Amino acid sequence: MDKMIIRGGARLIGEVQIGGAKNAALPLFMAALLTRDPIRLRNVPALRDINTVEKLLRNMGIRVERKGAEALVQAESLDTIEAPYDLVRTMRASILVLGPLLARAHEAKVSLPGGCAIGTRPINLHLDGFQALGAEIELEHGYIHARAEKLVGTTIDLPLPTVTGTENLMMAAALAEGTTVIENAAREPEVVEVGNFINRMGGRISGLGTKTLVIEGVGALHGTEYTIMPDRVEAATYMVAAGMTRGNLLLRGARAEHLTAVIDKLREAGMEIHQENGGIRCLITGPIKSVDAKTLPYPGFPTDVQAQLMAMMCFANGLSVISETVFENRFMHVSELKRMGADIQVEGHSAIVRGLGELSGAPVMATDLRASASLVLAGLAANGTTEISRIYHLDRGYERMEEKLRAVGADIQRVKA
Ligand code: UD1
Repeated sequence: MDKMIIRGGARLIGEVQIGGAKNAALPLFMAALLTRDPIRLRNVPALRDINTVEKLLRNMGIRVERKGAEALVQAESLDTIEAPYDLVRTMRASILVLGPLLARAHEAKVSLPGGCAIGTRPINLHLDGFQALGAEIELEHGYIHARAEKLVGTTIDLPLPTVTGTENLMMAAALAEGTTVIENAAREPEVVEVGNFINRMGGRISGLGTKTLVIEGVGALHGTEYTIMPDRVEAATYMVAAGMTRGNLLLRGARAEHLTAVIDKLREAGMEIHQENGGIRCLITGPIKSVDAKTLPYPGFPTDVQAQLMAMMCFANGLSVISETVFENRFMHVSELKRMGADIQVEGHSAIVRGLGELSGAPVMATDLRASASLVLAGLAANGTTEISRIYHLDRGYERMEEKLRAVGADIQRVKA
């Protein structure tokens, strides 16, 4: 397994190009199943999760061609309607294939995603929604077997605004008979992206970005071209990197309107952040200030940036309370940050960080995608050398991270095991 070795202390100065959003790209690849026509995607990020979705689709007999940041996906016919355990276990978002398959093939067999490093993370809301649309669902031999001769529009009131759940149901409803209303829908920019994409394919979805989505089913969808939005979590991670290393970065392609809660919080923590020529400029001149934060569904502070903010708070001088309300068990980075000297106490859903103004390099282990990012950030700002193992988590969601960081002055090396 590869390792990352970081010698901390370098100020990051320069420009970072933000790649296409992983969490938008994944559902768009799946949505390509909704038509027999070719779909062309641009700004596709080079990530392990994208390779996984590519394998998943190819395994179904779907044509997928990738060249640099462009992809062509054509689901002219399907050889199988199965998403096997081997692929689903490496990427929970594989569950996003269920909605498109049900709509297109009237049947799907998807391995149950099972345990996950960040809590139990059930998929009950996806399944309840498909049942409301008329699907029959059976759980057998570790697989979800869903069947629907036809899907019929209805009103689905989500108890929680699940992101992939909203996307999955929206994709299925796009080809259902009649109108589906999703209440308490997720409002994340990636959900809006999926809706816009389906509309470009000839779908009829309104209310995107609000809590109520109205999806009028259409008989068929057609091919289209689409440029994937920039990754707001990648951008937020580099913003924090600029703050923690007392650097000055221009994040090319990042969109401030997707990052309001993060920008507000980082400004409160002392950073200067403003829009500039095709990107976002971020720097810090004074000290890092302790701030409290609470993760919430969009437009609140994103859970996917919680670990990175916590790493930053270790470098402030004061108390910071970070509450996680989206996932139950998303503090795995705490024990690793403590190995680097952090003073953090977890009490229920909150972590109380006593900022000491510094951390010291140590051997640490990546446990999940965003936790890994927080360890890279901590290593960049710490005194001495940090060695991060199990960095395959990082490759799931950060494109060429060490290259991008090295280009702005970081001392970071990937060591092949
Ligand atoms: C998506 C993102 C992930 C992000 C998360 C929250 C993708 C591929 N992943 O994950 O990066 O951290 O949104 O912004 O887009 N829940 C249920 N039952 C369900 C579904 C969800 O109880 O059927 C709960 C979850 O356990 C969690 C909460 O709802 O507590 C929100 O999860 P959800 O929005 O579904 O996250 P994902 O879509 O899996």
